[in-house]
Amino acid sequence: MKSQYIKEIFRSFVQQDKQKFLENAYALISDEKKLNHQLFANELKDIIEQADNKLNVVQEVDYSKRYRKGIPIPRDNEKGFPLLELKEFNLGWNDLILSEVKKTHLHSIEKGFWNKEILSSYGIKPKQKILFYGVPGTGKTLTAKILSCALGYPLVYVRFDAIVSSYLGETATNLKKIFDFIENGKWVVLLDEFDVVGKQRDDHYEHGEIKRVVNNFMQLLDSFNGESLIIAATNHEQLLDPGLWRRFDDIIHFELPDEFEREKLFEFYFKSVKKVKLDYHKLAKLSIGLSASDISQIVSESIRKMIIENKSEINMELISDIIEMFLKRKKLEPKKI
Ligand SMILES: Nc1ncnc2c1ncn2[C@@H]1O[C@H](COP(=O)(O)OP(=O)(O)OP(=O)(O)O)[C@@H](O)[C@H]1O
Ligand SMILES: [Mg+2]
Repeated sequence: MKSQYIKEIFRSFVQQDKQKFLENAYALISDEKKLNHQLFANELKDIIEQADNKLNVVQEVDYSKRYRKGIPIPRDNEKGFPLLELKEFNLGWNDLILSEVKKTHLHSIEKGFWNKEILSSYGIKPKQKILFYGVPGTGKTLTAKILSCALGYPLVYVRFDAIVSSYLGETATNLKKIFDFIENGKWVVLLDEFDVVGKQRDDHYEHGEIKRVVNNFMQLLDSFNGESLIIAATNHEQLLDPGLWRRFDDIIHFELPDEFEREKLFEFYFKSVKKVKLDYHKLAKLSIGLSASDISQIVSESIRKMIIENKSEINMELISDIIEMFLKRKKLEPKKI
């Protein structure tokens, strides 16, 4: 095995392939450790980590229990940027305001993972490939973060538009690298701005390359056999290829909050603010058409205003003006294509 890794390390030097170099170097280090050559393994590791920006390599300390140590974060060959980011949060289901029905539905995804063994005795797997769609600011990304906390799996964040626009010829390679990476551990993988790769294959304006990318992505999704939860999120669901829809185990629509949910959102975001005299029910009536994200921003804006303008409290007048401003802004927003 050792000679194989060394050959690949030499090859990667000749081909100037940093990704290949890191993969093989870490595989060699791992083998040396297994052979109890700790000192040598550590020396090799130090050499790499001194040379490389430490952020390029997944830090062992944070995630060591959950996956094979020292896997390098894949990068785009052409421009060298990282294809994914690893993130951890501290959030719970209480941070999400949605209808009970929707929350129960989302919660069941988590429960599927906890009941993996029982499910497998029936020959079934938990739902692992989920599509979130809906207008901006309704909690798609937030839910992915919450699921990552609930399951104790770090979030792998992938911005699809970056991968696709980088250089079309490289897209398939990038996708493959991402899937290879996620096979190595348990993650909640968020494929954000997913519509870029999911563009309809018969879209006349698109270069033929994107069609190949879609096919390629579908194959990767079909053959995915890891233990992670994969969430694709989009607010342009109409651009998705019908073939892609069928690949998901579940499809969840995120909607704008109704009056009851808006009331809850105002209460939730104001809960830690003291000087507040507000009729939440009325605020809910005033904010028709606004998203959860708008409401959280309105609350921040009202606190900012109270402080900057030296007001003693946040009252209905102050916040109504801000809501009005957001409603106007909403009308000016470009419509969905
Ligand atoms: N359902 C919700 N409950 C509580 N807060 C929410 C909810 N939805 C959104 N927010 C707030 O708005 C912020 C932005 O929401 P989020 O990023 O989840 O929206 P999104 O649906 O992913 O939007 P986009 O389509 O633009 O990516 C969140 O960090 C949170 O503060
Ligand atoms: Mg989002």
